[in-house]
Amino acid sequence: MKRRSFVSGTAALATAALVRPAFAATIKPYSWDLNPPTDTRENFIAWGKGRGEDPYFLAQRWDRFQAMLRNKDLWGAATIRAFLLTPREEFAAVNPAIHKRAYEHAFLDIGYGVTMSGPHLQGRMTNVIDVKRGEKVLEIGTGSGVQSAYIANLTENAYTIEIIKPLADRTRGIYDKLIDKGYTEYQHIKSKAADGYYGWEEAAPFDKIIVTCGIDHVPPPLLQQLKAGGLMVIPVGPPGAQRVLKVAKTQGADGSITTSREDIYGGKIVPFVPFTKLEGDKIVGTHNR
Ligand SMILES: C[S@@+](CC[C@H](N)C(=O)[O-])C[C@H]1O[C@@H](n2cnc3c(N)ncnc32)[C@H](O)[C@@H]1O
Repeated sequence: MKRRSFVSGTAALATAALVRPAFAATIKPYSWDLNPPTDTRENFIAWGKGRGEDPYFLAQRWDRFQAMLRNKDLWGAATIRAFLLTPREEFAAVNPAIHKRAYEHAFLDIGYGVTMSGPHLQGRMTNVIDVKRGEKVLEIGTGSGVQSAYIANLTENAYTIEIIKPLADRTRGIYDKLIDKGYTEYQHIKSKAADGYYGWEEAAPFDKIIVTCGIDHVPPPLLQQLKAGGLMVIPVGPPGAQRVLKVAKTQGADGSITTSREDIYGGKIVPFVPFTKLEGDKIVGTHNR
């Protein structure tokens, strides 16, 4: 009896292994020439499955990709590739209630009173700053880590700052776990826990800056750390009623610096988590004036 149940237990495990290959173990490691197919859903899922990813989430990733294209939130080969290579589900796994919702068009609760931004918003904000390989990009508001995960597929020089220290530590842990799994592009991300209002002086200047928390003005230190010719995308406005602006910094022939602003949603209000302020080691209020 015992022997028979041992045999059938082994058979069951073998069957399970056949049904679900080692999605949780390792994947084919990242390289710059990995190029997921963009022609059909079937080809994309088969390719991702061959890499070691879970077809359940690959199907959702493809469907969201199609919706983002239709909505003009994603364009250009490099950003499309970044989206298709980023496993949002791995970042959403911090909260079982949102894990399977990773590809929804929604802000999702990741704990600590903050959210993971939705894919459409992240796609548009990433596209707008038009990151080229080799450029230095600073993100303010690491949160779930997904936004910087996209950037890590566009350049090897990504920097991200999170004000909530335990959240910064947790997200760094996710990057490190994923690097071990084969998502070695996350080695491109340098992260720290700090108040992002002051930027990252030692690493400045930056070609691009992406701010993912809302504030009523453009922080002067961030503008100062942006290169002339650089772009920043930032939600600006009163609490809960920000507009997402693309800020371009240019230098004239006489050396004078000018900035121009453009609303990337043509005036639509997009509410964001507030750009909070650190006093000592405590978060106290916001940087709004
Ligand atoms: C919308 S959420 C996270 C978005 C994130 N980029 C993502 O992909 O999930 C914004 C984040 O900004 C962080 N934040 C707010 N004020 C900050 C500050 N002064 N410095 C750095 N991070 C800040 C919040 O704690 C929160 O994690």
